[in-house]
Amino acid sequence: MNLKAITIRRTRQADLIDAFTLVMNTANHLRRHRGMSTTRSKKLRQPPSLLVHMLKTDPEGSFVAHDRKGKLVGFAMSLIREDEWFLAFLFVDPTLQSKGLGQKLLDKAMRYGKKNGCKRWALVTFSYNPQAIAVYTKMGMPPQRPLLTMERKRAKGKSFKKLRVPIKLTMKKITDEKYINRLTSLDRRARQLARPEEHFFWLSDENYDTLIFHDGKKLAGYAVVNSRGMVAPVVASEPKYLVSLLAHAVEWGVAQGHKYQIMFVQGEQLEVIRMLMKAGFHIDETTLFMASEQVSDPKLYIPATLAHF
Ligand SMILES: CC(C)(COP(=O)(O)OP(=O)(O)OC[C@H]1O[C@@H](n2cnc3c(N)ncnc32)[C@H](O)[C@@H]1OP(=O)(O)O)[C@@H](O)C(=O)NCCC(=O)NCCS
Repeated sequence: MNLKAITIRRTRQADLIDAFTLVMNTANHLRRHRGMSTTRSKKLRQPPSLLVHMLKTDPEGSFVAHDRKGKLVGFAMSLIREDEWFLAFLFVDPTLQSKGLGQKLLDKAMRYGKKNGCKRWALVTFSYNPQAIAVYTKMGMPPQRPLLTMERKRAKGKSFKKLRVPIKLTMKKITDEKYINRLTSLDRRARQLARPEEHFFWLSDENYDTLIFHDGKKLAGYAVVNSRGMVAPVVASEPKYLVSLLAHAVEWGVAQGHKYQIMFVQGEQLEVIRMLMKAGFHIDETTLFMASEQVSDPKLYIPATLAHF
């Protein structure tokens, strides 16, 4: 198909189910091509709440490409938090790849960042797709760090191995927006930006729990745990707390009934990786954090999702 038959326009909420389906199918096509196992996903009746949230905060940063029949064949979604632009998604239907459509969509999304004065540019992509790595490097975002997707599944009739918590902390689940300032000040140090938008989302969405931790009276950090087993992000006020925060949050998820758990660990977080492996987590996939510069301190920060570092 010729690109002349393709139209690019802003994403609407009604596009999000098709956009997410394109993301899943395209990622599976890439995995199959690389001889990897594919992931199965149910047919959606509603768009994932994270995508709805992102489109709400950044309606001008997201684009779809469709053909003359209206079939969605490309999707880009980007976010701006303070002076950082982050690419959450860029996917082109396999039948239309390598014709320039991906770069067109990326250009539109980056223009949104430039128009708004962004100074830092970042994303996470598949380590096994040289084409994607090439496109982003060309645009000034070279590979910076590996990220390990670490997961474990509970076998039937078995229980998960327990994690040892080196520094015992007090933990509280919070729902009140009065904590937002404390959370964003932790983010500023560990993630190098404040992102109240995400905290409003995590605090209000029933699938996410925000846990806050103290060492005596001292704020030690926070963790977000979702009902499907994701522990992300984990943010510490000091390096000595990071492992304990994660261990507490993982154990809390187990107590909530998690049968599956997943997190995204930065390559240099050796102590964290060793602790997780000891507890039966395995490395499912390596992805790459690509950026114009570093945007987090790995001594303090275990990332949120890959679409949302
Ligand atoms: C990555 C993706 C979005 C790119 O979109 P696309 O439309 O296929 O790519 P384009 O045709 O616009 O551009 C590809 C560019 O990479 C270059 N390229 C491809 N492989 C390369 C390699 N191994 N080394 C160097 N350059 C390479 C091409 O030459 C081209 O650049 P050019 O136009 O200057 O010649 C698309 O292929 C895709 O959806 N892939 C699967 C999902 C994915 O990996 N998404 C990224 C997740 S963040």
